[in-house]
Amino acid sequence: MSRQIVATGTTMADPIPTPRSSHGLLPAAGESVWIPTPLGTVTRLASVADLDAVQDLHARCSLVSRAARYMVGKRELAPAEWRHFTHPARATTWLTSPEVAPGRIVAMTNLIAHHGDRGALDLGLLIEDGFQGQGLGTALARIALGHARLLGGHRLTASTGRANRRMIAILHRLGATDWHYSGPDADTHVHLDGAR
Ligand SMILES: CC(C)(COP(=O)(O)OP(=O)(O)OC[C@H]1O[C@@H](n2cnc3c(N)ncnc32)[C@H](O)[C@@H]1OP(=O)(O)O)[C@@H](O)C(=O)NCCC(=O)NCCS
Repeated sequence: MSRQIVATGTTMADPIPTPRSSHGLLPAAGESVWIPTPLGTVTRLASVADLDAVQDLHARCSLVSRAARYMVGKRELAPAEWRHFTHPARATTWLTSPEVAPGRIVAMTNLIAHHGDRGALDLGLLIEDGFQGQGLGTALARIALGHARLLGGHRLTASTGRANRRMIAILHRLGATDWHYSGPDADTHVHLDGAR
């Protein structure tokens, strides 16, 4: 598999980064496109073969972070769940690594198609604790939002804890509306045609 690092043509202040290969908007089969992301990291599409490295990410994350991602204290992913996350018709998943240590995954970003609501995609983020609070989640959410628009989605949904200030700030920045609160949980969505 060839590897190339490509510029997204955006900065943190730019509206929507769009992942680009050298010849089009999306990577071709067999081509691995590495998008530069904050903190000296690069971000690429995941494949089903990445499960072990993703389990290592889960093992390094605190229980608080894993519970914030899944709303339960999940220790690792079931193999079937990972197949779902990497199934091209059902989800897009990106993995982020330090450029100097590409085998070490420090963040996972998921865009998962809703069952029975065509064009609705759910955003999930899990960042290793030591990489949080430094702008990485904001950048990854923007990559996912740009990709959701490329896919022709109409709605990006997200569920998080109502006390999760970072995720809530990210979603507000993306233009989230229609917040619904149920106990400790908050649900919202971003209309993709009007996304910032
Ligand atoms: C939630 C998460 C994805 C956010 O990513 P991050 O890289 O930590 O967040 P960022 O550094 O991009 O900051 C996002 C916002 O939170 C703010 N922020 C950062 N640290 C903060 C803190 N300690 N308290 C309050 N706000 C904070 C930032 O200023 C930014 O807001 P702004 O855009 O208005 O300036 C990440 O922390 C994470 O993976 N947490 C565990 C899993 C999780 O909660 N997933 C979300 C549910 S799917």
